Amino acid sequence: MTSKPFPQDFVWGTATSSYQIEGAWQADGKGESIWDRFAHTPGKIMDQSSGDVACDHYQRWPQDIALMKELGLHAYRFSIAWPRILPQGSGAVNQAGIGFYSRLVDGLLEAGIVPFVTLYHWDMPQALQDKGGWPQRSTAEAFVEYADVISRALGDRVKHWITHNEPWCASFLSYQIGEHAPGLHDWPAALAASHHLLLSHGWAVPVLRRNSPGAEVGITLNFTASEIATPTPENVVAARVYDGYFNRWFLDAVCGRHYPADMMEGYRQAGFVPAGGAGFIQDGDMAAIAAPIDFLGVNYYTRFMLKADGNNPPMPADDAEHATLPRTDMGWEIFPQGLYELLCRLHFEYKLPKLYITENGASFADGPGADGQVHDTRRIDYLRAHFDAAHRAMKAGAPLAGYFVWSLMDNFEWARGYTERFGIVWVDYETQERMLKDSALWYKGVIAANAFE
Ligand code: FCB
Repeated sequence: MTSKPFPQDFVWGTATSSYQIEGAWQADGKGESIWDRFAHTPGKIMDQSSGDVACDHYQRWPQDIALMKELGLHAYRFSIAWPRILPQGSGAVNQAGIGFYSRLVDGLLEAGIVPFVTLYHWDMPQALQDKGGWPQRSTAEAFVEYADVISRALGDRVKHWITHNEPWCASFLSYQIGEHAPGLHDWPAALAASHHLLLSHGWAVPVLRRNSPGAEVGITLNFTASEIATPTPENVVAARVYDGYFNRWFLDAVCGRHYPADMMEGYRQAGFVPAGGAGFIQDGDMAAIAAPIDFLGVNYYTRFMLKADGNNPPMPADDAEHATLPRTDMGWEIFPQGLYELLCRLHFEYKLPKLYITENGASFADGPGADGQVHDTRRIDYLRAHFDAAHRAMKAGAPLAGYFVWSLMDNFEWARGYTERFGIVWVDYETQERMLKDSALWYKGVIAANAFE
């Protein structure tokens, strides 16, 4: 096999998020988050678990940084828990919460690891949800206050900022599908939420730039390939609609193209936005959302196989019959070609200045075998195939500058609780011991060589 090299300054990292790893849900003045509330509500999490303890990263972060150093990681993407900083969402600041992240950032820098900070990875202060949450414009204002407070505190040392993680999940999955906190089933609310998330991003960009001179600022969107088996006219429309719902709605707005006209029209016809125009969009909003970014964060895992369905709005149905690729334990089809196509599309159709893959990885349950080691060869195969897709896209011209594997360690996988393991590091939740899986050792080799075979 030939070795496939990456550019010299390519950034190799891993990613996590606050609620999924920190635990310490009530420590040092932290406020309640919507995920605390949701996970504590019976029936919401598959295994009745919560992030109360999770990986106890709040206590064990020095050890976790040591692991990262051992792997030779260049960068670490983590998120800040808003309710640790502003327990009520706005107003009073909790210095102890700032202190935690300040020590974490110092520890990373001492270890030679560059911090990539996500401001919002879904754990909104419950106090804001009590006032309506993201469907309310005031939540976007509160987010900017939070972005200001935290970037004043860390902006001298943190030079890579991601405003939001996957606004599709924080809006549609949370307010329309109801699978994530706060668990609502309300289309108009989800649409307003998506707008206010994007608006808060656009408003926060100049604030981050002011408080963190020289920093790179961006947003992370999640993308899925919308695939159809048979190109009937109805199916082609179905794929286009799903792409509009999941991908274009966010991407077009951030890139200054307004919301896609076809989607807006579909939502109007469905009665989700009023006939005279979407009430939640005010003058100047779309320009604010289109604030120039330094990079786009790309999260990619899988494809969706779709077929037309006569529903209103014309949301496609799953085409399970044609979803025949091998799957991860999450049930997600393994489709590396989709990553290649996505990176090329972002480059050729949207001309983004820089791309980072801010998440890519796989859930496989493999645990310690008879020899005590975790031989997660399926995860290695998954990563290799996706590294290869990224490598090919770069050859085609995509400005990919780094790759963050999801995840550094096994953690609380939202509504699935601890039933899924995405880590390259194994976590024993009884003892909180960590152990490098084979995939971590393989990744260490890739980073050291800056190439893979
Ligand atoms: C993404 C999330 C991340 C993790 C992975 C598996 O949607 O951003 O927190 O749950 O999926």
